[in-house]
Amino acid sequence: MCGIVGYIGLQQASPIILDGLRRLEYRGYDSAGICTLDEGVAQIRRAQGKLLNLENLLYDNPARGTRGVGHTRWATHGRPSEINAHPHRAGSIVLVHNGIIENYISLKGRLQDLGHQFSSETDTEIIAHLVEDHYRDSGDFEQAVRQALAEVKGAYAVAILCIDEPDKLIAAKLGSPLVVGQGKGEYFVASDIPAMLSHTREMIFLEDGEMVVFTPLAMRFSDLAGNPLTKQSKTITWSPTMAEKGGYRHFMLKEIYEQPRALADTIAGRALVEEGDVYLEDLDLDDAQLAGLEKIFIIACGTSWHAGLVGKFYLEKIARVPVEIDIASEFRYRDPIIPANSLTILVSQSGETADTLAALREAHGKGGKTLCICNVVDSSIARESDGIIYTHAGPEIGVASTKAFTTQLVALYLLALKLGRIRRSLSAADCQARLADLLELPRKLEETLELDAEIEELAREFVNARDFLYLGRGNLYPIALEGALKLKEISYIHAEGYPAGEMKHGPIALIDEDLPVVVLVPRNSTYDKVVSNMEEVCARGGQVIAVVSGDDEELLDKVAALISVPTVDEDLLPIITSVPMQLLAYYIAVLKGTDVDQPRNLAKSVTVE
Ligand code: F6R
Repeated sequence: MCGIVGYIGLQQASPIILDGLRRLEYRGYDSAGICTLDEGVAQIRRAQGKLLNLENLLYDNPARGTRGVGHTRWATHGRPSEINAHPHRAGSIVLVHNGIIENYISLKGRLQDLGHQFSSETDTEIIAHLVEDHYRDSGDFEQAVRQALAEVKGAYAVAILCIDEPDKLIAAKLGSPLVVGQGKGEYFVASDIPAMLSHTREMIFLEDGEMVVFTPLAMRFSDLAGNPLTKQSKTITWSPTMAEKGGYRHFMLKEIYEQPRALADTIAGRALVEEGDVYLEDLDLDDAQLAGLEKIFIIACGTSWHAGLVGKFYLEKIARVPVEIDIASEFRYRDPIIPANSLTILVSQSGETADTLAALREAHGKGGKTLCICNVVDSSIARESDGIIYTHAGPEIGVASTKAFTTQLVALYLLALKLGRIRRSLSAADCQARLADLLELPRKLEETLELDAEIEELAREFVNARDFLYLGRGNLYPIALEGALKLKEISYIHAEGYPAGEMKHGPIALIDEDLPVVVLVPRNSTYDKVVSNMEEVCARGGQVIAVVSGDDEELLDKVAALISVPTVDEDLLPIITSVPMQLLAYYIAVLKGTDVDQPRNLAKSVTVE
């Protein structure tokens, strides 16, 4: 996710940038860096790890100058290290970047052919070289930035300095956030409002494809083609803590709302629609190995285990490989039989969960190949796995996992498509169609978030329930489990998730008029069966909250409440239906007044057994 800050004015830039970065550390803290311009010299300081390391470096070796850029990093391309820390420099160009460049491999190849040499593993350094390449030709900083950005595909927010034109700071954005702060005789630019709030409350929000050129006396807005734009500033009234949460009341809600962006970032550069294929950059397992797989194990804990349960559906259906799934704390002690031509997939947001790490070592110890699906770059699980698929959810701060879960589902889906192609169980045309649907998903998720007010209202109706039951079938059974877990974790209401068809084998005895039953019943291949299960609940007076797709008028008069999500392919339903599960749990917890972001007894990362 990363945070960027830029400053140009009359004050020393370095303390202002550091203060801004401190307030953006929630966006990542794998490394931090700063560059100020001091009488034509670029003062670059970079340090691995938290901002404190950079602060110590600057204490020993201050960076002077009244203009500068800074960065706090959440690693995506390239491990967390000083070499990969921003700012990146190419000739007279110095740049910080937040986002993911999708066509970095082809751009890098072209630049290398032109003689450019790279010193980091990042996609960002490519933009610096690209700007520098154009700058060398034209000697015009602004034009060089425009030309470079026109060639870049993906998402970016950039702040760029040119050593030869020290009175200019240029910033631009596409897909990643960027806000301008207007002070008196000084200008700020940052990924988020809190970075500038102690200096100004006058903010201007850049839109995609917009660029701003600052000098100490003025700022000019334009589109990337150079057409001038007039922008209005807004006065921000948020408190600094509210601002860190982007104006949301809790990190959890902010993270629920970040899902369209998180999904888009996880798909970015991986969906090769024209070829009908998937590119997974760190898979590190060759096609012959993947083609010959006889078995896959998926191992994880908690919410990540629920993602694994959906993954089993994807891999078995699309790639036709048998999948065994287990909870990490069980797997590690059951002396599992791991055949040579098997793959063990570890799913973990943090990459530090002790049981999942132990399960990875167990699989390795028995000679198995391993692959992790992980959100934190260079975490223990990522370092020790043979292959990695990173979810690009960005830092997840709320203890209850939301955006990490849906991005794990996307990563597992992409893996299933990739294996399907390699194992020839999926045609290129089918893969193309599935990728086209997947690329639509962030927009559909955006639409799903419009259910917010409706679900808040529903939460009021059911907040006093003592227990909840969640029912789902097939790939929605794991979502029933996840819905129940979310509710338990943050509202402390007892909740159970069950396969809908299993209800009559026991849990049906619980049903009475006081029991809300959330039934996941969108139109899919088991729709009729789940409707029958739902009727069984209704017949016994249960209060059904039905999650349906599109307009399902038929069910309207049978149930206590209907939540309608957008229509998607049935394999993508687990992702879309997760959103109402998250929102329902969230609003019930808010009404109960619990500590939503740090619920009692729970820790974000369980690094002990
Ligand atoms: C629930 C939740 C936990 C984690 C579990 C595994 O909202 O967050 O159940 O999913 O502790 O953590 P990771 O994915 O970091 O291995």
